[in-house]
Amino acid sequence: MTKPVKHLFVCTQNRPAGHPRGACAQKGSSELLQTFWQELQKRNAYDRIAITYSGCLGPCDQGANVLVYPEGILYGGVTKEDVVEIFDSHLINDIPVERLRVPATAW
Ligand code: FES
Repeated sequence: MTKPVKHLFVCTQNRPAGHPRGACAQKGSSELLQTFWQELQKRNAYDRIAITYSGCLGPCDQGANVLVYPEGILYGGVTKEDVVEIFDSHLINDIPVERLRVPATAW
């Protein structure tokens, strides 16, 4: 396996119902992860892009959260409808999707 150019992490952390921090899994992150994997497969971009699930990334109230390296850019409130835009803009063309970035005050 070659070293990926971009590595995207989807938080799939879950917590008990009613937990004060909430959890990305309660905001559709498992389905979001599946959609990212489907898009990766469709584009056959395994040599450049890695997509991995993760535990809690920190600012749970902003979820569902997605973190992209090497830039270390955190996207919040991500839904499966945002997947193609994140691929086209950030993962392929290196242009972060500003409207989804978690504000610096939160992370
Ligand atoms: S549960 Fe996803 S960032 Fe904390």
